[in-house]
Amino acid sequence: MGLDIKKLKEQALKEIEGIKNSQEWQDVRNKYFSRKSGELAKLIKDIKNVSDDLKPQLGALANQVKNDISSALEKKQNELAVSKQGKIDKDFIDVTLEVEKYKLGHLHPMTQVQNELEDIFQSLGFMILDGPELESDYYNFEALNIPEWHPARDTQDTFFIDPATSTSKEPQVMRTHTSPVQVRAMQKHGAPLRCVVPGRVFRNEATDASHDHTFYQLEGLMIDKDIAITHLVSVMKEMLSAIFKKEVNVRLRPGYFPFVEPGFELDFGCLICNGKGCSVCKNTGWIEFVGSGMVHPNVLKYGGIDPEKWTGFAFGLGTTRLVMMKYGIDDIRLLQSGDMRFLNQF
Ligand code: DAH
Repeated sequence: MGLDIKKLKEQALKEIEGIKNSQEWQDVRNKYFSRKSGELAKLIKDIKNVSDDLKPQLGALANQVKNDISSALEKKQNELAVSKQGKIDKDFIDVTLEVEKYKLGHLHPMTQVQNELEDIFQSLGFMILDGPELESDYYNFEALNIPEWHPARDTQDTFFIDPATSTSKEPQVMRTHTSPVQVRAMQKHGAPLRCVVPGRVFRNEATDASHDHTFYQLEGLMIDKDIAITHLVSVMKEMLSAIFKKEVNVRLRPGYFPFVEPGFELDFGCLICNGKGCSVCKNTGWIEFVGSGMVHPNVLKYGGIDPEKWTGFAFGLGTTRLVMMKYGIDDIRLLQSGDMRFLNQF
């Protein structure tokens, strides 16, 4: 009996070896595995008739043989799926293959924080505006009180469009900041005005862990009757407290930007050490955050707004820096890398 079982296995493996197409595969499979008339079914029946002391041993052997034949068939099935020329056999469908699962994506951390900022400013009555990334030299510099000869141009080197290949008659640059939308917004909407402008900006940078040629800013502008520095401070405090979900201190230091007068660097109290001093705030207790100031009368004039009647504040914050601080990201280049190992952490 034991010998019969082994013979059956040898015969089956030989037949499986010789299978040439899926029809033959099906036939061999039926020959051995058909529930009623299959060779293995017959074998099991035969085992029922042997003496009780032999049953366990033969049963185990039969089981082993069944598994061996089954794996040989499976192996053959895989071979048949791909023919010798590497083409899929046209009548073979492997219904057991796992379907690739549909992967759900999520918003980039930059987009998440930008959306959050937009919600905060919208709740304070600010419009959300866009502007062109390929900007005219006029809006990027000239209309912001940075004429051609101005040394401030040197601090914002960017990518200039070759006039020979440009479709525009005006000189064009990749915008170095979101500030040009200030004048565009004034020209379009007039005063009073409350808007923020999130967007991508470009600089000619030698890139490293804290500098990239492409990053994100959010510009803010508020123009109305009797707007003063206190309005700027309270809007900044409101925004920071909403982002970090706790009361945040701010301070102003004098800063120079040609499009504001007076101009400020606005810092906030370090949230890591609560102002005591740590490596994040370079032991100062403060984190440099935005450039800001009262809109320069010349800029209001470029925007078609009378500086005798209206005043306003403006600010420009680095959304990229904010994201890095919020999530403790130590290399700015990761944000533009498209590396899923990085992105999947958010
Ligand atoms: N545009 C400036 C920059 O990119 C930031 C800035 C400073 C924006 C002062 C402002 C401002 O609106 O008032 O460096």
